[in-house]
Amino acid sequence: MSHSFPYSLLPLLSFLVFHKPVISLNNGLVLTPPMGWLAWERFRCNIDCENDPENCISERLFMTMAKRIAEDGFKEAGYEYIIIDDCWMTTKRDKDRRLQSDPERFPHGIKYIADYVHSLGLKMGIYQDIGTKTCIGYPGSEGFEKIDVDTFAEWEVDYLKLDGCFKDSALFDRDYPMVGKHLNNTGRKIVYSCSWPAYQVEKKMMVNWTGIRENCNLWRNYGDIQDSYESITDIIQWYAINQDMLIPIAGPGAWNDPDMLIIGNYGLSLVQAKSQMALWAIMAAPLMMSNDLRNLRPEFKEILLNRDIIEVDQDAMGIQGRQILSAMRGFGIEVWRRPVLPVKDVGNETWASFAVVVWNRRVDGTPFYFPQRLGFYGLTHANGYYVKELFTKKDYGLMKADDELPLYVEPSGGVVMFKATLAVADGSVDALRKRKEAELLRERLHPPVKSIRGRKYDKFPGMAPGADDLVSEEASVFFTLLKVVSVILVLLGVLRVAGFRPSNFVRLVRRVTAVARRVVIV
Ligand code: GLA
Repeated sequence: MSHSFPYSLLPLLSFLVFHKPVISLNNGLVLTPPMGWLAWERFRCNIDCENDPENCISERLFMTMAKRIAEDGFKEAGYEYIIIDDCWMTTKRDKDRRLQSDPERFPHGIKYIADYVHSLGLKMGIYQDIGTKTCIGYPGSEGFEKIDVDTFAEWEVDYLKLDGCFKDSALFDRDYPMVGKHLNNTGRKIVYSCSWPAYQVEKKMMVNWTGIRENCNLWRNYGDIQDSYESITDIIQWYAINQDMLIPIAGPGAWNDPDMLIIGNYGLSLVQAKSQMALWAIMAAPLMMSNDLRNLRPEFKEILLNRDIIEVDQDAMGIQGRQILSAMRGFGIEVWRRPVLPVKDVGNETWASFAVVVWNRRVDGTPFYFPQRLGFYGLTHANGYYVKELFTKKDYGLMKADDELPLYVEPSGGVVMFKATLAVADGSVDALRKRKEAELLRERLHPPVKSIRGRKYDKFPGMAPGADDLVSEEASVFFTLLKVVSVILVLLGVLRVAGFRPSNFVRLVRRVTAVARRVVIV
């Protein structure tokens, strides 16, 4: 196979233009996206423990879920954080102005749960809000930031999800970093999950992405996930439209968070559950399940425990993947791609392996035949790639750019996910690099951008142009062309009504040219 230009280097080359390393909250935590379980999407604010003791927000729920994580194979697969969301508090602070958990539902307090979670070898997370109230209306942190953070540290909490309800979002740029400093000052290592950009994006404000990635370990960018496939496609669409802005800010210790995994709940079919898992892994997203681990159907559990896909999500380079074929251009087929280890240095160039997702958004009920050569995905290294599907485990062996990959992708949200592992000159596969080495490499491959589409990097809108109404970029090009054509037609109409004829136009042009010539000669 011969090729003149290494197309698979394009994304890497674009990163190489810049050379500053990503700076993130310097707590050394979550060098790969955090994994765990979060109560909100599945259990919401159910505080009715009298009638629904099994499902209400209570000590019992969190301890049960922690046990399931520890005993059902989730812990071994990497799921680690058990996170309490809203509705754990009483409505009043105590006499020392400290938060208190609801005494009925959390009779032994939060520290007791943290101790249990730690005894299982897991970590513990909690929810609070930076405003005057939590989103449901419990006491917020405003004015009590230091007391609250110190309280969480005392309870031996390992992760704080700090929401942004009931506060002017313009103050986030000041107050999220302030809480981050308080967290650092506790001396306890606490992962800091911010909702800072999510509210600013919603209000179409300018977003300080540099500040966010410097001060938070992860951040929600967009609206809440709901229990439906539509919700997932809406989130993925938003990430695709805004990918040039989002990809450069993610990296070890600092992650975009498209929200929880809803796999195993009511809303997703089996194929759609696979698509959430695959695309979250491509996006280097935190893998936070929100489901009922006591009643998880085995086929959904299998998806959540797919080691090959988790490995993609947890890739040590931490480069967020991108959409390379939109559903609009692909007639309902989308392709996403993420550079992963192992990589290979050839002179000044670095070639990466890739994880690829082909996603079928068509609904014409039969698996869609999608035969493409490897080169179509930008996989063009002369030595080829070892290709393996990550759900079916189908192994294609060594393939080169001109070899065809004959994929069938199930309809209504089905995916095929494969990994193309770079083959080196001698035919063996590069060994995985050690983490330290990988981080250094990542800094080279993935430095921050300074401007996007001519806008200064530090402050640019939360949404890319055209994203407001979820019109894709191609659609906006189409509409622009349509506008130009309409304007020309209207102009021609007006000229015609005004009695203007094409012959007049020719005469006018001649006269103007004659005058111009005279002026030039003079
Ligand atoms: C917001 C967040 C959700 C959840 C709720 C709790 O909506 O985005 O993830 O924490 O608040 O009230």
